[in-house]
Amino acid sequence: MRVPVLVTRASFPDIVDRLRTNFDVTDNPDDTIWTQPELIARLQGKVGAMTAGSDRIDATLLDACPQLRAVCNIGVGYNNIDVDACTARGVIVTNTPDVLTDTTADFGFALMMATARRIAESEHYLRGGLWTKTGRYDMFVGGDVHGSTLGILGMGRIGQAIARRGAFGFNMRVIYHNRSQLPAHVEESCGAHYVDKATLLRESDHLIVVVPYSASSHHTIGAAELKQMKSSATLTNIARGGVVDDAALAEALKEGSIAAAGLDVFEGEPVVHRALLAQKNVVLTPHIGSASVSTRRAMASLCADNLIAALGCGPTAGKPPTPVNPQVLSGALEER
Ligand code: DGY
Repeated sequence: MRVPVLVTRASFPDIVDRLRTNFDVTDNPDDTIWTQPELIARLQGKVGAMTAGSDRIDATLLDACPQLRAVCNIGVGYNNIDVDACTARGVIVTNTPDVLTDTTADFGFALMMATARRIAESEHYLRGGLWTKTGRYDMFVGGDVHGSTLGILGMGRIGQAIARRGAFGFNMRVIYHNRSQLPAHVEESCGAHYVDKATLLRESDHLIVVVPYSASSHHTIGAAELKQMKSSATLTNIARGGVVDDAALAEALKEGSIAAAGLDVFEGEPVVHRALLAQKNVVLTPHIGSASVSTRRAMASLCADNLIAALGCGPTAGKPPTPVNPQVLSGALEER
């Protein structure tokens, strides 16, 4: 008998069909967002789940779903999952790193450029019928990207990919801050120099935030940090809501203590802070950093590979390609 699994959000039908060749699959083609009690109800008896950032997997859920052995998340980030609680219960957690690195770096760079060059703001102006005379010398003047200083907070795979775009594509001086300094050969390969956080804030013309969310990165950029930035600087957040204090950012944008911001992620998304919506000097996108067709397919496919292998099927049975807590793997297989 095939083991039952749940696919919590709509996905590519052929990838869900691939899961069906291994499992008894319950999916969610209508893409309904379930509350946690609804999710718990649907997970009853399920041994594995393909989850997304909107699903909160915590101790309460795990205790209510004791059969669950594998939680395979679509996305490189997994702050929706209490990994320690999973590990303590022998539940394997997987994510989808690498396959989205360049797509997300492209998006971060695009959002930074749109922010610096006021693309969204000027498009709204044009669509609003306000463009009645051409070529005024200061119409929508923004900040240059080429040749300026790019600051990157969080220098993992995506941060490094953004650095390469800036250093080698746009002749930028690239500085970064990270929990630890990268080895010299990695710094050289992405044309970036390590600085302390204060220097990063003070010297960046365009600061891009790429740190994962955790209790320790909560409001890493708040009122105090924004005050240290140049008044001409831009801030782009493609990491997670909560890494930036959205209320403090809205205030900084209003006061002009920084020039503009580009945000793909928000505290409490899909709700966006009202004060941000009121500001013209912010480009807002609905968490689409990895949203190219091929990358979203690659993420779903890697997630399926993880689920299949984690539950002991397929060519790499017992060895999911991208585990978050590999220490539970042998235990998870023995318990089944
Ligand atoms: C990720 O991969 O973490 C993206 O933000 C999608 O959730």
